[in-house]
Amino acid sequence: SDPALVARARAAKDALGEKVFVLGHHYQRDEVIQFADVTGDSFKLAREAAARPDAEYIVFCGVHFMAESADILTGPDQQVVLPDLAAGCSMADMARLTQVEMAWDALVKAGIGDSVVPVTYMNSSADIKAFCGRNGGLVCTSSNADVALQWAVEQKPDAKILFFPDQHLGRNTGVLKMGYSVDDCVVWDPHRPNGGLTTEQLRDARMILWRGHCSVHGRFSPEAVDDLRAEIPDITILVHPECRHEVVLKADLVGSTEFIIQTIEAAPAGSSWAIGTELNLVKRLADAHPDKRIVFLDKAVCFCSTMNRIDLPHLVWTLESLVAGTVVNRIEVDAETEKWALVALERMLALPG
Ligand code: 13P
Ligand code: SF4
Repeated sequence: SDPALVARARAAKDALGEKVFVLGHHYQRDEVIQFADVTGDSFKLAREAAARPDAEYIVFCGVHFMAESADILTGPDQQVVLPDLAAGCSMADMARLTQVEMAWDALVKAGIGDSVVPVTYMNSSADIKAFCGRNGGLVCTSSNADVALQWAVEQKPDAKILFFPDQHLGRNTGVLKMGYSVDDCVVWDPHRPNGGLTTEQLRDARMILWRGHCSVHGRFSPEAVDDLRAEIPDITILVHPECRHEVVLKADLVGSTEFIIQTIEAAPAGSSWAIGTELNLVKRLADAHPDKRIVFLDKAVCFCSTMNRIDLPHLVWTLESLVAGTVVNRIEVDAETEKWALVALERMLALPG
């Protein structure tokens, strides 16, 4: 990265001292992650934001929904900043509040409203989290989706889970951790009347999965797993649960970004790994572990384009603006949304484990 920009970022951060706390998601660029006070997956970063009541400014190097969650979990005097407002998440955008409310109304009409517990993945807007808080549900991340689903089914007799926005995380967790069959999980398509499902299908389902996915993890294919196994016979395939179910079934290990990092750190020298997650993280792991063979589970380049929008120029602009006394790109969730989203987030933070 440009040495002049590195020096400016360092100087601005030093000038701000304890006033600023920089959070960096594992999918951020190297040029940005070097300035993070803490790195983590979305669950760890949510906890870290909540644990810094003295930082006046939280600069969130990640995407919009993460900065919203940080704002909800931090105090009213703390200001959360997203260095580029265009850093959204295509998966989070796949579930809009009006669509979720329409789905909810249809479930009530189908006579199953009383048994449904809504669970939203962290990768969703604050108003969707608030919807879950208001309707007896909670938030989960890829680190705790199994414990969150277990909590959800214990809330009501014959509970059914409405899970959004990522159908893959929902299906992978439901089938691999909850013992559901693939047929127990139906997919609600927000662009079709009644989600494209019959009342009977809704009544029979144990999980209703929103038709959403991650554009990065959705690209990994079962064929790529087969090809790598043929090429490197002793390879271990490690993937994120946002990957398609067919890919997860063929993999050896599945887990959140934090799990992926811990697994590679604990792996013996000389071992071979193919990793199915965002490319910035895979490259960083390969660089940090030259004694292990680490390859990316796809032939094509696979960065998360919105995560990559946070670059060094945006970070420098953000930090220098704060030094000059101007808070740019503040992310602020309105009070009513915050109140209910906090209910859903606190249910998650109170989960065991
Ligand atoms: P985690 O940080 O929970 O592993 O999620 C991955 C992701 O896609 C974040 O946007
Ligand atoms: Fe969204 Fe996928 Fe990018 Fe994560 S990796 S921010 S889920 S598009």
